[in-house]
Amino acid sequence: MKAIAITPGKGDARLIDIEEPSVKNDKDVKLQVLEVGICGTDREEIVGGRADAPSGSSELVIGHEMLGRVVETGKGVTKIKKGDYAMLMVRRPCNHCPFCLNNRSDMCSSGDYTERGIKGIHGYQTEFVVDHENFVIPVAEEIRDIGVLTEPLSVVIKAVDEALMLQSCRFSGIVPDLIKGKRALVAGLGPIGLLAALVLKLKGADIYGLDIVKPASVRPSIFSEIGGHYINGLELKTENIDNTYGPMDFIFEATGIAKLEFELMDALAVNGVYVLAGIPAGERPVTILGADLMRKMVLKNQVMLGSVNASYDHYIKASEELVRFKNTFSSPVSKLITERVNYRDFRNVLELHSSDEIKAIVEWSR
Ligand code: BGC
Repeated sequence: MKAIAITPGKGDARLIDIEEPSVKNDKDVKLQVLEVGICGTDREEIVGGRADAPSGSSELVIGHEMLGRVVETGKGVTKIKKGDYAMLMVRRPCNHCPFCLNNRSDMCSSGDYTERGIKGIHGYQTEFVVDHENFVIPVAEEIRDIGVLTEPLSVVIKAVDEALMLQSCRFSGIVPDLIKGKRALVAGLGPIGLLAALVLKLKGADIYGLDIVKPASVRPSIFSEIGGHYINGLELKTENIDNTYGPMDFIFEATGIAKLEFELMDALAVNGVYVLAGIPAGERPVTILGADLMRKMVLKNQVMLGSVNASYDHYIKASEELVRFKNTFSSPVSKLITERVNYRDFRNVLELHSSDEIKAIVEWSR
């Protein structure tokens, strides 16, 4: 069967032939891959960035955001059946740290976890995949068209949940609702940012979105349709966000631009929480007013946290939340997938990137 592979450290994405996997254990599930989303991590991998091949191999099949259909199950599988839509989680546990031993490989403390399509195990840019049912997430048929967004949404749901959990420990008994009616800023209106906007809007936040494209272009238009106020970073300096719109109680960062990540601290309100979900690449140094930044954080009781990956429960929530999105925001949600190409034309979406792109998808089967 066909697969898209790279040589880690080098990139050079290409179509290769690999052996079709088969169900070997009672708990194995075999999925036919329908679609695989492209994200910043894939684009980093294809130019020689962060990626590791499975041991003994010099190449890695890429892809970690998938939607598939179950074609076969082992005798002991109870969670899913043939014909169901489903997707597979990204991370696999190290099996020796306390987090991985408690189904929280997203918080793995040993660093020995693996990630399909990223770190040490082949990914989903291929025709069929087999995995243990513990990593299979059911996807409702009614979201067949957007189910491929389950993985990026799981990352958003974890980041928002973690941030609000920290705040609720501090505010319990004092402030009844931490996000409802509060100002929440999303930086970067790509797929992660727009999904975060939907999550925060459904939680009742007053959402603001920062990007550097014209207000009439696709991403700000979708953000406005969700009910957000667009902030054009080409016209307004980051340091003026709080003076113009008021300080932000919640900031969700999805640009992965280190300099901006620091600058945005300036917009954070007293007792505010700031969650970083973008993964910066490169080594470019950043100059910051360190003492000023730290002083404000201390004197304003602020929280800044990083968040990566997601647990099983976050994935389940994500696949359920997509149904809510579709029912509540059907028009903006239907616009999130901007490009679909057949796997033979993968270069058109993996190596090229239009300014209006939100989520580009490689199709393996219909
Ligand atoms: C993926 C995560 C993964 C992270 C780090 C992201 O692109 O969405 O699932 O944990 O990269 O490798």
